Amino acid sequence: MEAAGGGGLKDLVRSNWSNVVLVCRKCSKKLDGGFGPGGDERLAKALRKHLSLKKGRKAAAGIVEVNCLGVCPRGAVTVVDGAASRDWLLVRPGADLDELTEALGLGNATHP
Ligand code: FES
Repeated sequence: MEAAGGGGLKDLVRSNWSNVVLVCRKCSKKLDGGFGPGGDERLAKALRKHLSLKKGRKAAAGIVEVNCLGVCPRGAVTVVDGAASRDWLLVRPGADLDELTEALGLGNATHP
């Protein structure tokens, strides 16, 4: 192991993300939709649309689908707020996306 500042960590890429949210992909698949206006979208996609986020690092926030987080709730999706990683959310189908946006501190992401 190199000492801190020993190099290798100097290459940076800027992103516009004010926060990052991790959404369990496997939970999302199990629900087969459940979110968005028509109730037929996966949570990550519905949330991105709801916030009109751009793609990738140009977006105002990162909504990232990740592998199973080991909670595996029935009828809900495990979500981690990167800025408040100690309390994970279990989001049920049909959840109010405005409320979720608020709970995840993504309110600013809608108005970059
Ligand atoms: S399937 Fe989502 S936490 Fe395991």
